[in-house]
Parts: sequence; C-alpha cells; structure tokens
Amino acid sequence: MKVLVVGGGGREHAIIKKIKQNPSVEKIYALSGNGGIASDAECVNIGAKDIDGIVDFALNNAVDYAIVAPDDPLVLGAVDALEGKGIPCFGPRANAAIIEGSKAFAKNLMKKYGIPTAGYEVFDNLDDALAYVKGAPVPIVIKADGLALGKGVIIAQTKEEAVAAVKSMMMDKVFGKSGDYVVIEEFMTGPEVSVLAFTDGKTIVPMVSSMDHKRALDGDKGLNTGGMGTVAPNPYYTEGIAKICMERIFEPTVRAMNAEGRTFKGCLYFGLMITQGGPKVVEYNCRFGDPETQVVLPLLKTDLLDVMRAVTEERLSDIKVEFEDKHACCVIMASEGYPSHYDKGFAIKYPEELKDKIFFAGAAEKDGALVTNGGRVLGVTEIADTLKGAIDAAYADVKKIEFGNAYYRRDIGKKALLATEVK
Ligand code: AMP
Ligand code: GLY
Repeated sequence: MKVLVVGGGGREHAIIKKIKQNPSVEKIYALSGNGGIASDAECVNIGAKDIDGIVDFALNNAVDYAIVAPDDPLVLGAVDALEGKGIPCFGPRANAAIIEGSKAFAKNLMKKYGIPTAGYEVFDNLDDALAYVKGAPVPIVIKADGLALGKGVIIAQTKEEAVAAVKSMMMDKVFGKSGDYVVIEEFMTGPEVSVLAFTDGKTIVPMVSSMDHKRALDGDKGLNTGGMGTVAPNPYYTEGIAKICMERIFEPTVRAMNAEGRTFKGCLYFGLMITQGGPKVVEYNCRFGDPETQVVLPLLKTDLLDVMRAVTEERLSDIKVEFEDKHACCVIMASEGYPSHYDKGFAIKYPEELKDKIFFAGAAEKDGALVTNGGRVLGVTEIADTLKGAIDAAYADVKKIEFGNAYYRRDIGKKALLATEVK
C-alpha cells in the first residue's frame, strides 16, 4: 500500500512512525514532511494548503490511502477533494471540520444540543461586542472565530484588556478574517484534559487521555504556544469523569454532527476542563492534537492503519482499540525565543539509540545534515510503568540531544505527578 500523509510536524512524524509498522505499507509520502521525517518517509515539497497539488500528487503516484492531519487542509476540503478522485482518506470532510474551523459554529452546536461548555455570546459587530465586555465580569475570554494557529484566544483579566482584545480582533484584524466574528465567553477554572477519539460517525472510541502544557515557560507562565510537552494518561481524567464525558459530551457530539448533516469521520479532539460543575468543552479540534499525539500513539497497541481504515469504511465497531497500561511523557525541545522571535539553522545532534523516540517538527536537511528550522524543533517521548519513570527518562533523553539555542520546559508532567500523589 502507498500511503500519503499531509502535514509536516511532530504529530505527522508520530503518525508516520506508527503506520510504518503495518506490514502492508510499502511506501509513505509526507507532504511536505520535514528533514527529520525524511528518514521515515519520502518528503515531497507540496504545502498542506495546496489542495490541488495534493490531489495531483496522489493521483500521479497511485496513492492508496491518504491521512490528512492538520486543520488547514481539512477545513479547506482536502478530504472532499481526494475522495472526489476516489482516494480513501482519514479525516473529516470540510462540512464537519467546521467544528474546529469556526468557534461560533462549535459553540452554537453545543448550545443547541445541550453539550456542556462555557456560557458565551457571538458578535459580528464591534460596538455590540465592546458594549458587552464593558458590562460583563472579568476575567473574560475572547476568541477569534476562525483558525488562528492556536493564538486567537485572549483571557482578559481587566475590562481594559477585554476592550483591547476585541478591538485588536475586530478592528485591527490581527487574525485577519478570523476576527469577523468573535466569541466572548465565561472564564472557567479547573484542570484541562485532552481526549482524542476515533469516530466513524456511528461509534466513538476515545484514546488514552493526555495533558498538554501550552505556555512557553515553567509554571504555566509566558505566552501560549502550540504545546511544550505532554503526558498520558491524564490523572484528572478518572473513570468517573470518562463515563460522564462519554454520555454528556462525546456521544452527543457525534449525534449532533449527524443531525446537522455533517457526519464527522476521523479523529475528533476534545479539549476539556474539569470544572466544579463537571467536565465542559473548551474547544473541539477536527484532528489529532500536537503534541498530544506524540504521547497517545506510542501507547496504542492496535495497528493504527487498521483503525484508520475501519473509520474510513465505517466499521470502527468491529475493531478493538487497545492501549498499553503505561505512562508516556513527551518533552518538546524548541528554539530559544519561541513563540516570538528565534534563530534557526543550528545543527541537531542526537544518539542513534534515540531515533525511534524523537518526533521532528522544525527540522530541515541542509548539506546532508539536520538543522533547526522552526520554533518547536522536536519532541522526545518515553514510555514507562510509572509517570515519574516516563518523565525522568524523557528528560534524560533531552540531555543527550543538542542544538544551538535549545530551550525546553523543565516541568513537563510535574502538575500531573502532584495530582497523582494527592490522590
Ligand atoms: P483554545 O484555543 O480554545 O483551546 O484556548 C486556548 C487555551 O485558553 C485553553 O487551553 C485554555 O487554557 C484557555 N481557555 C480557553 N477558553 C477558556 C475559558 N472559557 N475559560 C478558561 N480558560 C479558557
Ligand atoms: N495541543 C493542542 C492542539 O493540538 O491544538
């Protein structure tokens, strides 16, 4: 089988390493991949948003199956376009990817179907939005409607900050058209949990839970990033919470999408907050999370490609999806300065023994050597019987990996460890 994977970050590297284990896979193309992925797949320089380029490549190279991993191509209709040419895919069609593509859509869906989430209002008019935030309690959360590289969310601590956030999105258009509509919502508190789930629109199978660390600095300080590290499972996601989520959030979301004529097939990501009033949805993503995937997939025992194809063919209920009863920790090594300004082009060195544990993101090949080429450069994942064992092993690996201006958080998994000890 020839498999094409759209995307080029750590998440895609984790997917590729996993599908490589399927004996029927003879060739994997990554569009566009990266210099680090190149040792596991043939990287082709076609961007994830170049839908026509992706489809042409798939047809010209007799691709049998395509996995569309990032949000942009999913929202732009990459799956619709590939399926239209007869190529089976993993990932939702555009009409279902809107669950991530428009926060206003997602919030209205939850309201209509009684799925727990923060209270909110949607605005398309600057004056109304400003009047609303002036009268609402702080902290308050202001979100640009569309995709904004995970940066379109501002938690305003004061009314002045709230007014500035609304103006920056709706007047100055700092997130472009994503700011045409703005969602203003109630501030929630509680531990956050990420749950990725396979669904074929009939059955939903949650994967092992995980915890992301989104802020750049230790102690959850600094700017929001794409994610600085993850652990799985998430100790706050108890069996009791899982049951409530299944009944009140996961299954109702699948049914709601069906009722709207927008059947979701692929990986549905639930960003949850465990509040005093029970678990609530912070956000939906229409795809695998990054870097959640880098801890979740290494724990998956069942063949990933078999599960994906079952999703595509709507026979997920026939498959038993199993995870190791172990713990995983992924530490992201980034370029100093990320997510703001950073330099790149530094040689990356790592011992051969770590090859299967590293997922490359911002890495490029230059004159036969691997160099840094982005903010998040790589993630290194370890699995162990205990959470502490996984954390210690991941940090031991980090010490063996070298590149110029390397930066990483020192406290990935610390909060999870404390939560485990308290219990
Ligand atoms: P999002 O991109 O929607 O996941 O938001 C990014 C982060 O902002 C989340 O992971 C939360 O930590 C935080 N956040 C978003 N919405 C809320 C909310 N209503 N209350 C508290 N924190 C929030
Ligand atoms: N780690 C959060 C995301 O993938 O959006």
